[in-house]
Amino acid sequence: MDCFRIDGPVALSGSVPVAGSKNAALPILAASLLAEEPVELRRIPQLGDVRVMLRVLECLGAEISPWYHAADSTPVPGGSASMPGGSALALSVPDDGPCEVPARLARAMRASFCVLGPLLARRGRGVVPLPGGCRIGPRPIDLHLAGLAALGAELSVERDRVVASAGRLRGATIDLTGPRGSTVTGTANILSAATRARGKTVILGAACEPEIVDLGRFLVSLGARIEGLGSRVIEVTGVDGLGGTRHTVIPDRIEAATLLLAGAITGRWASSAESTVRLTGVSPGDLAPVLAALRGIGFDIAEGVDWVAIRSAGRPLPAQLAAEPHPGLPTDVQAQFTALLALAVGRSTVRDDVFPERFRHVAQLRRFGASITVQAGTATIDGRHALRGATVVASDLRASSALVLAALAAGGRSTVRGIHHLDRGYELLDAKLRSLGARIERVTQETAGRRAARLALPAAVAG
Ligand code: EPZ
Repeated sequence: MDCFRIDGPVALSGSVPVAGSKNAALPILAASLLAEEPVELRRIPQLGDVRVMLRVLECLGAEISPWYHAADSTPVPGGSASMPGGSALALSVPDDGPCEVPARLARAMRASFCVLGPLLARRGRGVVPLPGGCRIGPRPIDLHLAGLAALGAELSVERDRVVASAGRLRGATIDLTGPRGSTVTGTANILSAATRARGKTVILGAACEPEIVDLGRFLVSLGARIEGLGSRVIEVTGVDGLGGTRHTVIPDRIEAATLLLAGAITGRWASSAESTVRLTGVSPGDLAPVLAALRGIGFDIAEGVDWVAIRSAGRPLPAQLAAEPHPGLPTDVQAQFTALLALAVGRSTVRDDVFPERFRHVAQLRRFGASITVQAGTATIDGRHALRGATVVASDLRASSALVLAALAAGGRSTVRGIHHLDRGYELLDAKLRSLGARIERVTQETAGRRAARLALPAAVAG
């Protein structure tokens, strides 16, 4: 398995572009099943979960172009970094086709469950395995199933998969409020299905995340009739069919936050006494809770129409943070802030109200010398003056990025294993960090093998 070898501490400085949002691209790709005319999607990030979703769509009969440059339609070589306008794809989806998602794909990615609503609306049938995804706590789907049943679907759970069928879906009033706020992918599933339901659907307790607003804009561009996007109450008036569109996905606010935190956690080691990391192609408004938290921790943040910059000079101030549903601090940056506060000048707490068990990164952060305890969904962090290099193992997508941040700031060499988790949700994060000055190297089995051959050592040791 690949790993990162990181030498720190190194101050980061420079400017990088931010990719399209994974958590917007995934439900939008799923909702493309509703399009009866061709769709062009731009700024789709080239990362693991998107590749899985594309394979899911192909299993459902979608025809998908290779990646190409949105600006001039020339082919994009695999693994190319984000570019202005980004990579693009063209899709077309026939009325009929297979309606079953292979288990091996569904287990790899929870968002595959988002195809169920569009399948029921377009084809009247769907068979989707119970979803997998990051192990960050219970990942129920009761709200998805209750919402689709309210729209008139017949659903049963048979041998770890959901078998669903429906005639023409009918509008309903559906409450998606869960015990910890709304459900993001549940809102995506119900919103997509409701676009083709007869009559009006009112979604109460809808998720307000920017990714859901972007999905709604995509659906409206197909011809859907939706009011209330971005609020807790969304009203959908069903239509008889949806056309095609060209849509550019919003920037990834979680990647942007992760890169800002990389600047924050390393700045104090700048030889020039400060460092500045600038991100381009972002939506600062979507980053508001993250920027507020960083300013509260003592960092200078500048922002423009489509850029943000962090100037980092000293250790972070302690903070009391809580991850909440939007517009609160995103749970997807909780682990990264926990890593940053491990170097604060005092005691901090970080609570996760969305996924109270999302703290598997803490045991690994302790290996860098961090002083963190977790109790009832809250991490208490006693900041240290410095961290030391360590070998650590990532457990899920955002935990892996938190370990990379800690390794960038730690003194000496670190190895971060399990980075396949990171490759699921970030587009070339190591390349972007290297462009900012990080000493980070991806070690693959073959590079370890070549190094071993040179040193006449076993690959596992050389890796
Ligand atoms: C989405 O996951 C994101 N994934 C997650 O990002 C993100 O952490 C999460 O929303 C919260 O913001 C995608 O968008 C692909 P939820 P999702 O359903 O939709 C409870 C990442 O790192 N719930 O909003 O699966 C649930 O237990 C990933 O990019 C129910 O009770 O999360 C949780 O406490 C990780 N019943 C809360 O709602 C349900 O039917 C939020 O879950 C569904 C959810």
